[in-house]
Amino acid sequence: MNAFDAIIDRKGTASIKHDLAKTIFGNENILPMWVADMDFETPSFVREAVIERAKHPVYGYTFRDESYYEAIIGWMKRRHQWEISKDWILFSPGVVPALNFTVLALTAPGDEIIVQSPVYFPFFTAISDHGRKLVNNRLVVENQTYAIDFDLLEEQAKTAKMLVLCNPHNPVGRSWTKPELERIAEICLHNKVIVLSDEIHNDLVLPPHKHTVFANLSPEIAAITITAHSPSKTFNLAGLAASSLIISDEKLRNIVKTKIQHLHLDMGNIFGFEATKAAFIMGDEWLNDLVKYLKNNVMETEMFLREQLPHMLIYPTEATYLMWLDFGFTGLDDKMIHEKLINEAGLWLSPGKDFGSGGEGKMRLNVACPLSVLRDGLQKIVMTFKNENN
Ligand SMILES: Cc1ncc(COP(=O)(O)O)c(C=O)c1O
Repeated sequence: MNAFDAIIDRKGTASIKHDLAKTIFGNENILPMWVADMDFETPSFVREAVIERAKHPVYGYTFRDESYYEAIIGWMKRRHQWEISKDWILFSPGVVPALNFTVLALTAPGDEIIVQSPVYFPFFTAISDHGRKLVNNRLVVENQTYAIDFDLLEEQAKTAKMLVLCNPHNPVGRSWTKPELERIAEICLHNKVIVLSDEIHNDLVLPPHKHTVFANLSPEIAAITITAHSPSKTFNLAGLAASSLIISDEKLRNIVKTKIQHLHLDMGNIFGFEATKAAFIMGDEWLNDLVKYLKNNVMETEMFLREQLPHMLIYPTEATYLMWLDFGFTGLDDKMIHEKLINEAGLWLSPGKDFGSGGEGKMRLNVACPLSVLRDGLQKIVMTFKNENN
């Protein structure tokens, strides 16, 4: 049996994914395939590292030692051919906090910041909650796949201060190609737009696609880029709240660093440090197996839904374990699709409209679960919507 086939009971662990259905929908028996964490075990070498540290009887104030930085540097070099230095790495308790304090540090109220919807919704609030102006470079669909509206981006970049890039993109599943990223880079360089590149899903690019680190395109690009990264999606350890910002430009880095220090966000927790080290030192083989498993789950989903619901449009999943499904064929509005899924299918997906303009009629399906659970979820979708499929 494949280790990823094991069904882990996560109920009763205060899991956002598994323990909130009762509170929200009044029914605990709803299959959760929404929030972006995986139903697989966090790898044993990560758990062992955390347990080993927990055995020491004192959990006092702790700094991140050399080995922590070396683990991140080694990972970026091995997995992403990106050479970084220790002093480029800043700690953040999460990528979402990092998006927020980077916006606070590098822009001023009223500044225009570009996002590309439909996109991970905390991108919107990281801008609007701080009085910055949200500018939407909405993605366009071409030949049933998502693309960037570069003409619009060129216009918007003339007055914008920052672009928050989702690379790879959640929820549309694109692994942006090098030429696409180069075009973004050219526009941003020309217009002096800072790029905040959220690369939290960078390790979960499905073959044959390849991840390109935006900051690694050229030294000039690196000088205007802030990269956000974390072991949390890759190794399923979001509950340990440990991530990084990687910034090569000293001036930009010092501004962001000062903001982190003023907000007192750089302490972190000892278990997050140990987990990060173990994951990035020992995680290669485990990750290779995970990516294979995810790729297979994506293919199974595509095959099954294409056969059973031929009118459903399934966008290609090039990266992440999140699939973007178009329920437009049902003729139902967003609220009805969601209600039908919850009440009739007993299945919880993320409503597409939460990801902003362009998300209407879509649902995001999280396939990071054992294949048998995935098949159950897919069956629920088909049973509920097969009569609409005409
Ligand atoms: C693009 C993106 N950024 C950030 C996060 C969450 O980051 P964190 O949990 O480190 O705040 C997610 C989680 O789904 C995500 O998809």
